[in-house]
Formats: sequence, structure tokens, C-alpha cells
Amino acid sequence: MRKFNLKVLKNQAEKEIKTAKNLKELDEIFRKYLGKRGQVTQILRSLEKISKAKRAKMGKQANELKEFLEVKFEKKAKDIKEKIEKEIEKKEWVDITIPGKKPSLGHLHPLTQVKKEIEEIFQSMGFSVVEGPEVESEWYNFDALNIPKDHPARDFWDTLYLKNPKLLLRTHTSPVQVRFMEKNQPPLRIIVLGRVYRHEATDASHEINFYHVEGLMVDEKGKVNAANFKAIIEEFFSRFFRKRVEIRLRPSYFPFTEPSFEIDVSCPICNGRGCPACKNSGWVETMGAGMVHPNVFKNSGLNPKEWRGFAFGIGMDRLAMMKYKINDIRLFYSGDLRFLEQF
Ligand code: FA5
Repeated sequence: MRKFNLKVLKNQAEKEIKTAKNLKELDEIFRKYLGKRGQVTQILRSLEKISKAKRAKMGKQANELKEFLEVKFEKKAKDIKEKIEKEIEKKEWVDITIPGKKPSLGHLHPLTQVKKEIEEIFQSMGFSVVEGPEVESEWYNFDALNIPKDHPARDFWDTLYLKNPKLLLRTHTSPVQVRFMEKNQPPLRIIVLGRVYRHEATDASHEINFYHVEGLMVDEKGKVNAANFKAIIEEFFSRFFRKRVEIRLRPSYFPFTEPSFEIDVSCPICNGRGCPACKNSGWVETMGAGMVHPNVFKNSGLNPKEWRGFAFGIGMDRLAMMKYKINDIRLFYSGDLRFLEQF
């Protein structure tokens, strides 16, 4: 039988247990001493081969060593587990008293906010919101609206034509007047809020794409007139600017309305007293309007002798500029967060 020095074995095992860094290492050490083929196990097994006299003494010592080491292993395993738990606790510790981080939420673009507000005001006055295509035909954009073939707006320099020369990007929302009247019998009240396109040099008040608010009200002859238009549009502006504003109608010309007007609003910034925004006139030009031209009724399949109506077209971007005192239309389309975050 091999000679074992239990004292050396004890010191050696104790030292190794002490230096074990994790449970895996500790397990290996356990197997080395107390496993099936472990050194202490082998000593215990070999006891039967030695003389009875020695066996009792050796057995006692070996069993004591075994129990001693078992306690050490247990203690070390407990220490390692506690250490791991503490590390996890430290890593995963959450201070539930810290105020939460507010996620930065986006919001609707100022033009979308204005669009929604306009829709709500007109809806409350009985108007329905309808849409039309942005890619339009020459017929709906010009011909059906009584715009002559030689009208300068048709010029390549004003209108963005598509490859198919019969198609273009609509230059206004007025084509939806015809599209809607073709399919719907009056009386009717609609507004169209949509993007329009013009081949123009941009500046502080001109963009190449911007928004129009088209309005159309049609009823039997004698039931709708320019006075109705004035009342409705005055009510709209007062609600939109949240203060009483006056409007004035000036004679103008549009091929699709007769008579036609240009509408000025008393400057909502200086209340009509005169300021740089209204060029000291006290009035701001905002839109075109007029009574629907008989040819437009005809082109929509309606008898112009039976029906009367008014139509108007507001530049929505310019309205938003007045409301929020913005001095450059291009800011709306710049995507500049310093600007957008103010709304
Ligand atoms: C029209 O487009 C007519 N369809 C309006 C209309 C409808 C008249 C129904 C009668 C009946 P106008 O080209 O003037 O009209 O444009 C209407 C408004 O759009 C203008 O008053 C102006 O506020 C705005 N606008 C015109 N061009 C630009 C541009 N490049 N950038 C921003 N806004 C513009």
C-alpha cells in the first residue's frame, strides 16, 4: 500500500480549496480529493488492506480529514455563490426612486396641425373633406376649368409636366371641383386640402410644392350667393386666428369663376393698423375666389341654369405663416428640428 501523509494532503487540499475561483474549479478539486477516485477516497478504500491495529487509527484520521474537507468545500461553495449573487445584485441594481427618463416623442408637423384645424372648422360648418389625385390630367387641371389653351399657367415654366405630356403635377386643387361634381349631385359643400406643385423660383413666400385649401358650395339658383361666401370665409378666418378679422373682396380674374375676387384679411398681426408683415397696408392677400363659371358646371355634367355656387382657393402655407408669424415658407420643408420643435 502507498504511504500517505494525511497532514500534507490536508494542507495541500486546504490551499487549493482556498484559491478556487469558481464552482467549476472547486468541483475539480473536490473530485481530486473526495471524488470516486479522489485521493482521500482511495485512502479510505485501502484501509482494509492494512493491519487491524493500524486500521483503526488510520481510519479515524482519514475520516476526520474527509469530514474536515467536506466542511471546507461546503463553506467555499457557499462563499463563491454569495459572491456571484452580490455581483449580480450590483450589476442589476435598479434605483426605483430615480425619476424616469422621458422618451422624446415626435409631434405633428405644423402644416399638418394647421390642416387638421382647418378641416375641423369647415366640417363644423357642414363641409365634407374630399381628396383628389396629385398627378392630374390636362383636362381636369385646365380644360374642364375653362382655362384656355394659351393660358400662361399651362406654360412649361409654370407647370411640371410628366413624361406622358397629357399628365402633370396639379398646379391647384380646383380640378377636384369638377371630379366631385361629375359624381355628386348638388347641393354640396366640400373642401379639398392637398399638395400642389408649381415650377417656380423659391423665395420667402414661394415654394415649388405647397398646400391649397379648395372650397366649393353649390346649391339651386337663388340659394347661394357671394354674400354667403363672405359670411362663411369671415367666420373661418375669425375662428382660425381666434380673433375677429375683417375681409375685403377685390375684383379679380380666374377663368373658372365669374365674377372673381381676390380676398384680403385685416392683418392678424397688427389688427389692421399696419406693420411690416402687411407692408403697412393693414391688409394681407390670402386667396382667390368667385362664383362658379357656367362652363365649369357644363364640363361637370350640370346644367348652369339650375345651379349656383362659389369656390375659393387658399394658400395654406401662407395662412400658417400668418398664424405663427413665420417669415419664410421654406422653413416648413427644411426638416430643421430647431424650427419644428417650436410647435
Ligand atoms: C389658384 O390656384 C386658384 N385655383 C384659386 C381659386 C380657387 C380661385 C377657386 C377661385 C376659385 P392662385 O394661383 O392665386 O389661385 O393660388 C392660390 C393661393 O396659393 C395664393 O393666394 C397664395 O396664397 C398661394 N400660392 C400661390 N403660389 C404659391 C407658391 N409658389 N408658394 C406658396 N403659396 C402659393
